[in-house]
Amino acid sequence: GTAQIGVTGLAVMGRNLARNFARHGYTVAVHNRSYAKTRSLIEENGDEGAFVPSESMADFVASLERPRKVVIMVKAGGPTDAVISELVPLLDEGDIVIDAGNAHFPDTRRREAELKAHGLHFVGTGVSGGEEGALLGPSIMPGGSRDSYEVLGPILEDISAKVDGTPCCTYVGPDGAGHFVKMVHNGIEYADMQLIAEAYDLLKQGLGASAAEIGDIFRTWNEGDLESFLIEITADVLSHVDAETGQAFVDIVLDQAEQKGTGRWTVQNALDLGVPITGIAEATFARALSGSVPQRTAAVGVLPAETTPFEVADRDAFIEDVRLALYASKVVAYSQGFDQIAAASAEFGWDIDRGAMARIWRGGCIIRARFLNRITEAYEREAELPLLLADEYFAGAVGNGVAAWRRVVSQAALAGVPTPAFSSSLAYYDGVRAERLPASLIQAQRDFFGAHTYRRTDKHGTFHTEWSGDRAEHDA
Ligand code: 6PG
Repeated sequence: GTAQIGVTGLAVMGRNLARNFARHGYTVAVHNRSYAKTRSLIEENGDEGAFVPSESMADFVASLERPRKVVIMVKAGGPTDAVISELVPLLDEGDIVIDAGNAHFPDTRRREAELKAHGLHFVGTGVSGGEEGALLGPSIMPGGSRDSYEVLGPILEDISAKVDGTPCCTYVGPDGAGHFVKMVHNGIEYADMQLIAEAYDLLKQGLGASAAEIGDIFRTWNEGDLESFLIEITADVLSHVDAETGQAFVDIVLDQAEQKGTGRWTVQNALDLGVPITGIAEATFARALSGSVPQRTAAVGVLPAETTPFEVADRDAFIEDVRLALYASKVVAYSQGFDQIAAASAEFGWDIDRGAMARIWRGGCIIRARFLNRITEAYEREAELPLLLADEYFAGAVGNGVAAWRRVVSQAALAGVPTPAFSSSLAYYDGVRAERLPASLIQAQRDFFGAHTYRRTDKHGTFHTEWSGDRAEHDA
């Protein structure tokens, strides 16, 4: 075979990835379960580079030079396993199978172990940036063996987004590390989107502003610290007018947020690892609440729907408060997400470089933002930084906004505007910086009713109190 890389699964993401490889001068073998998609790729985009189409999986594999590099871009779960089972008997030792879909990282760990037993490399890789990113340069988060990265890495770096000439692709870590990092990326994406939605709601309720006016506010914000893809598209979405009704587009969209599951996985894993990712969790639950139709219906006419009008004395000052609160809450969400990466890295022995993850998220992906440079710099200052919020830059930035943050969260509470992500992020900030937490009382209660023991502030060891008798403290 002569093709340098192959792509099987030519729905829009796979097709665009294949085109991206071809546009970078690679000879690309292409295959799809039904040939129609392959044919349409060749007919419509065949002039963009060198494609080698195949109808059968066997021909597809035979068209690849060795070690073969096969990118699978099909639905996560069963369909991915089905393609892997078809591929494996056709491959030879040292070949590399790349799963570029949004797989759940435990599946990637399992598949990597299975393929290793066959002498094959399995690379679970995150790919972010949607359809356009896949074509023009995504952010790529490959896991798997270091050996496979030696061969595959340069090709992936080539087709990835670039920021200041640096590729938005780097080796993440063994087995499931790449898909894990992509999962947390999506969790952070949920938090970012929820925070933006809450800011929009506050501006709408507080100022009585139209969607288009709020779009202009976001456009201004995009010129400062908040500059990011999501803020930019928010401005565009808010300015968009529905062609059919002439109304603001955002006002005619049903207010029930859906999800394909990566946010839920992020929260499930955080519970397993015991990492408080409250911003991401609240964002995920806020989507669930929006979709809780029976509950929302039951509330109609029973619980008051109206909000208490805001007292916004100074329009510009309020807008600036919301901006500062958004930024501070965003820092909390990222700080929590990076904690989760650190915890999983320790749990699974992945040795993930968090600064490098922030670097490859600067371009190509959905959460791309200027702000990610600051995160890379923070981990350059201290690679094992235990709390991003405690980095000198972020501590200062959040400190500057904290009074505004408190005003916004308290105004929202008084008015009855739900701000789960703003509020929980502020509560996290206050919790993590507290000198003493009421967890001491929780421990005492646990010892009282279940003899679960406690530790003391004044001496080492584990203790239990005889609560019913003479209340003697003794070593447990
Ligand atoms: C990306 C996106 C992409 C997809 C999400 C949407 O990084 O390119 O995250 O993976 O748009 O899966 O997720 P939900 O459908 O769960 O909102």
